Amino acid sequence: MDIGDMRRDFESEGLDRDALDNNPVRQFQVWFEDAREAGILEPNAMSLATTGRDGMPDLRTVLLKYFDDEGFVFYTNYGSRKAREMEENPQAALLFPWIGLNRQVRIQGAVEKVSKAESLRYFASRPRGSQIGAWVSEQSKAITSRGLLEQKVAEIKRKFSDGEVPLPSFWGGYRIVPDARPWANSVAPGSGNTCPVAGLFARPLANPP
Ligand SMILES: Cc1cc2nc3c(=O)[nH]c(=O)nc-3n(C[C@H](O)[C@H](O)[C@H](O)COP(=O)(O)O)c2cc1C
Repeated sequence: MDIGDMRRDFESEGLDRDALDNNPVRQFQVWFEDAREAGILEPNAMSLATTGRDGMPDLRTVLLKYFDDEGFVFYTNYGSRKAREMEENPQAALLFPWIGLNRQVRIQGAVEKVSKAESLRYFASRPRGSQIGAWVSEQSKAITSRGLLEQKVAEIKRKFSDGEVPLPSFWGGYRIVPDARPWANSVAPGSGNTCPVAGLFARPLANPP
C-alpha cells in the first residue's frame, strides 16, 4: 500500500523561542491547556518508551495522571513488562503526540517508583470501578477469554463488597523525572510545508556543573 500521497499543509504558528517559558514544566502546562482547548482526544495519553536488559526498545500508551516540578506520573501494574523493563533500566522517554496542533512534546528522564503513600492517595481518589480494574488488570498477558475477565471482576466485587477496595500490592505509580538534557518540543513546521522548527529548551539544572 502506497500512502505517499497523504499529506496536508502544516499551517501553524511555529515556535518562537523567546515566547517559551524558562520553566519547562510551566511551558508544558501551557501546551497541555492548548491541547485540551483544541479538543484533542485524551491529551494526557502519552507514549512511554522503555528498554530492558535485552536492549530492545518497547513502546506503549499510558495516561499521565499529574505532573509538577518533580516529574510526570502514571500508574500501572508493577508486574507488567514495562515495569520489569523500568526496573532493569530506570530510564524512559515520553511522547505526547498532539498532531492536531502540529506539535509533539518529547521528554527523557529517570524513572522513580512513587512511594506507597502517594500511590495510596491516588488510588483512594479513583472511582470504585477503576479500583476494581486495578485488581483485575493482569497486564502483558494474553487475555484468554472475555468470560474469564468478567468472572474475575465479579470475584473481586464479591471479595470487597463490604467496604473499601484496598490498594493492590502489585499496582502503583512511576514518576519520570526529566533530565537536564534539552527537552525537545515540536515538529510544528511553519506555514507552507517549509522546514521544521525544532524548539529546544533546557530544563534548569538543580546543581549546575
Ligand atoms: C488509551 C490507552 C491508555 C492506556 N493507559 C494505560 C495506563 O495508564 N497504564 C497502564 O498500565 N496501561 C495503560 N494502557 C495499556 C498499555 O498501553 C499496555 O497495553 C499495557 O499497560 C501493557 O503494557 P506492557 O506489556 O508494555 O507492560 C493504555 C492503553 C491505551 C490504548
